[in-house]
Parts: sequence; C-alpha cells; structure tokens
Amino acid sequence: MEDANAVGYAGSLACGDAITLFLKFDEQDIVTAAKFLAFGCGSAVAVASILTEIVIGKHVDELAKITNQDIVDALDGLPEAKIHCSVMCKEVLEYAIREYKNENTENENKTVCQCFDVKEDLIVDVIRKNNLKTIEEITNYTKAGGGCGKCKNDLLKILDNETSKEIN
Ligand code: FES
Repeated sequence: MEDANAVGYAGSLACGDAITLFLKFDEQDIVTAAKFLAFGCGSAVAVASILTEIVIGKHVDELAKITNQDIVDALDGLPEAKIHCSVMCKEVLEYAIREYKNENTENENKTVCQCFDVKEDLIVDVIRKNNLKTIEEITNYTKAGGGCGKCKNDLLKILDNETSKEIN
C-alpha cells in the first residue's frame, strides 16, 4: 500500500512465517484501508487476511483491544499448533499501532528463542492472556522452543516467574 500511514512487521523469514501489515487511517484515526503481505503457511495467510477485515472502521484505540483470540474466533478456530499465527498477527498489529502513534518500535525486548526470533515480551503476554501452564503450550502459541530446544530453560524460568506471581 503506497499511502499507508502505518506498517507493521512480525515473524521471521528464517523460520518461514512473516506478515507485513499496511494500515491507512483517516483524520479521526479510523482505519479506512488495510492490506497485508504474508509469507508462510495457509494459516498465516488466513489470519493476516481476516485481520485486514477486522480492523476496517476501527479507531486506533480499538485496534489495541483486538486479541489473538478475536482473530482465531473470526476464523471459526485454528488448530492448536497454528495458534502462533494468530499471536504473530496480534504482534504485527501492535507494531503498526506503535508506528502510527509514532512510538519507538525498537526496544530492549530480549530475544528468548533464537530459532524463531521470539521476544520475551510476547512470551509473557501470551502466558498471561491465555493462562498458559506448559512449555508445549508456549510453543503452540509462539513457536518458541519448537526448534533446537536450547531456549527451553529460559521458557521455564519465564513460566515459573509468571506462575509464582499468580500464586502470590
Ligand atoms: S532457541 Fe528456541 S528452539 Fe532453538
């Protein structure tokens, strides 16, 4: 989209899934057009496509409230092993929102899983929002831990940290 006001990116070409989202806003901060580029499986294309329908007519503040579950529901569900596509979609949307609001898109967010370029903030976010309890669930939602497995100790630490917060 040549006249997009915001462009979001998520995923990694190295792991095979990547989405670019283009948004056009009017003067009232309402999305008037949305387009995407997706590289990866059919689920990645499906989530990106449905996202461009969900966002039309929404104010930028409403966009921030869209969850990955909203995207899954709009598709009438996704296989567990493909939930990470909806999380990637939520990530690309957040990126585009940050860009539109002129916030800094670079931050100190640490990469936990090198294989799939998954950052700590995303892992914490999916654990909290989806009440995840196992590393396998984190892998289903984000792909982290689904490659060489070297990051599993770090995933466990994050999981333990989040679980202990719940108990306290
Ligand atoms: S670093 Fe996470 S699976 Fe390899």
